[in-house]
Amino acid sequence: MRVAVAGLGDIARAAHVPALVAHPGIELVQLVDPEPARRAAMAGVGVPVAETVDVGAVDGVVLATPPWVTPELVVEFARAGLFVLAEKPVATSVEAAKIYEQLTAAERARVQVGLTYRHDPAIAQLTTWIADGTLGSPVLIRAHIYDEQFRPDDAEHTARITATLEHGMPVVHEGAHVFDWLTHLLGAPPIGLDDAWSVRTRPGLPAPNLVGGRLSYPGGHQALVEFGWLTSALPRCELTVLGDRGLAVLDGFTFDLKLVTAEGERVVRFPGDRMTRCFERQLNRFVALSVGGPAEPSLDDGIAALQTAQLLAGRAG
Ligand SMILES: NC(=O)c1ccc[n+]([C@@H]2O[C@H](COP(=O)([O-])OP(=O)(O)OC[C@H]3O[C@@H](n4cnc5c(N)ncnc54)[C@H](O)[C@@H]3O)[C@@H](O)[C@H]2O)c1
Repeated sequence: MRVAVAGLGDIARAAHVPALVAHPGIELVQLVDPEPARRAAMAGVGVPVAETVDVGAVDGVVLATPPWVTPELVVEFARAGLFVLAEKPVATSVEAAKIYEQLTAAERARVQVGLTYRHDPAIAQLTTWIADGTLGSPVLIRAHIYDEQFRPDDAEHTARITATLEHGMPVVHEGAHVFDWLTHLLGAPPIGLDDAWSVRTRPGLPAPNLVGGRLSYPGGHQALVEFGWLTSALPRCELTVLGDRGLAVLDGFTFDLKLVTAEGERVVRFPGDRMTRCFERQLNRFVALSVGGPAEPSLDDGIAALQTAQLLAGRAG
């Protein structure tokens, strides 16, 4: 599969490009970014760089672009007949995501969304523990997603995260992953948003940087979600699942799992680091998509997660 990457920023450099270069089923043929400095920084990779994607020279494109840019590019490239792996969130609002209605069913089916960590075996293991009663049922899930620490000496990071905050609270961006996991873990989307809150910890921030809420799921399951960026210190980033029979703890950075039940405690660790194994698995699915497999996660999955995030952000105010 011949693939181009559009958007040579942080996540492309750290994860997409190394994963694409390493993948045996993929030939990375073009690195694209309108910013000369971003192209220059990729010169060492040994792949031609360009300002725009050469549609005729590729089968697929990975869009590692900001979410306020991504929707138009998805439509453009899916319509041009390419397979598209588009970073999450699929848009910064449900309104902006309406552009996807322009796609035919066949074009939509060519779009995979970069809800990368859905592919982790730790999520599959957690799903099993919930479904097979290991933890008891119903469960309370607490998702504490704290990332992007405020580091005044790192101007690039501060500018990038502040710009992202201009396009929505952390729930819009991080919630893409979390609401997708919750639907996956609990087997169905939420049936209600019971509560929401937000805090702006510093004047001058373009939006509240701490935000959370409580959601109800079928079967009596409850989820308490919290998202936080840009404070000088951060609470632990983790997801816990608590039921009558046990507690599972997913480390938010390593995806190491701990299971505590009456039988004792055990830790489950999967080989390799989380980023490498998830980006590799994501590309396996992208290659499968190019030979007739389903888009997983699909554009509909990405839009569903965005709808929940926007509902919560709207209520949190
Ligand atoms: N899947 C994950 O785990 C994960 C992790 C981090 C970030 N992300 C997502 O990846 C996306 C990019 O994040 P980032 O931190 O790398 O941002 P970034 O700002 O560092 O990089 C974005 C790049 O896109 C380029 N760009 C802008 N318009 C473009 C266009 N029309 N064509 C090609 N390139 C264009 C910019 O010049 C920039 O280099 C965001 O949507 C973010 O939410 C996903």
